[in-house]
Amino acid sequence: MLLKGKTAVVTGASRGIGLGIALALAKEGCNVVLGDIDLKGCEEAAKKVQKLKVKAFAVKCDVSKKAEVDSMISSAAKKFGKVDILVNNAGIFPFVDFSKMSEAEWDRVLDINLKGVFLCSQAAAKSMKEGGRIISISSIASIIGFSGLSHYCASKGGINGFTRALALELAPRKINVNAVAPGAIDTPGAASDEKTRKQTVMGIPLGRMGTPEDIANAVVFLASEKSDYITGQVIVVDGGWTAK
Ligand SMILES: NC(=O)c1ccc[n+]([C@@H]2O[C@H](COP(=O)([O-])OP(=O)(O)OC[C@H]3O[C@@H](n4cnc5c(N)ncnc54)[C@H](O)[C@@H]3O)[C@@H](O)[C@H]2O)c1
Repeated sequence: MLLKGKTAVVTGASRGIGLGIALALAKEGCNVVLGDIDLKGCEEAAKKVQKLKVKAFAVKCDVSKKAEVDSMISSAAKKFGKVDILVNNAGIFPFVDFSKMSEAEWDRVLDINLKGVFLCSQAAAKSMKEGGRIISISSIASIIGFSGLSHYCASKGGINGFTRALALELAPRKINVNAVAPGAIDTPGAASDEKTRKQTVMGIPLGRMGTPEDIANAVVFLASEKSDYITGQVIVVDGGWTAK
């Protein structure tokens, strides 16, 4: 077990990639605090994690609200005595034409996807010791453009820059800061009709959509001692999409 006795906080952990990450960390012996705006879904998810014989609990937390973030991190530290790993996963990706995008729509995406990463990282870093890990879920939309997602692409590009800068600031404390940039991953949030799905798969060199486990495998590696000498990096997990 790579993470026995460690404590992780995972945001947006009710479903999709966040749930996949929570389960994968638990399989490696990690206790997990699951945060989400959907408390009921999060409690169900925490039950699944507990079945893997680790401690887990759910917290209602909107990552764009500082008070809720601070309370999630302090309840994790209170319950488990420390936070070793933070996974900034919560994110939204609503398609909106740039010409019709309202200020409120822009702000909502940036508040959740980028400000949320700042708030959670700042709160968690305070309770981290040497060996701590901050891992943010970026996207290939931080590297290539997607029509209808200008706010989302900006937020994920922001995560990459933030990751590099924070890695430098936390390096003296031996806290590693990295990001994982997924391609097209099969999750409830990314569900599409069969035609769109087929078109997407045709554009992926490895010929399939990714799964939450594909992303979770990279997160487990970055959370473990096996990645001790890696910081300030964005690891792309996309079946070869951006290699074209
Ligand atoms: N699915 C993909 O193809 C894909 C690709 C690249 C990157 N990503 C990124 O992966 C992450 C997870 O995506 P997913 O596909 O699993 O999405 P999803 O919609 O299936 O799940 C997202 C979870 O985040 C929660 N959430 C939403 N707003 C929140 C907030 N303000 N505070 C806390 N929790 C909140 C939701 O309730 C939900 O449980 C996101 O950051 C997304 O941008 C996804």
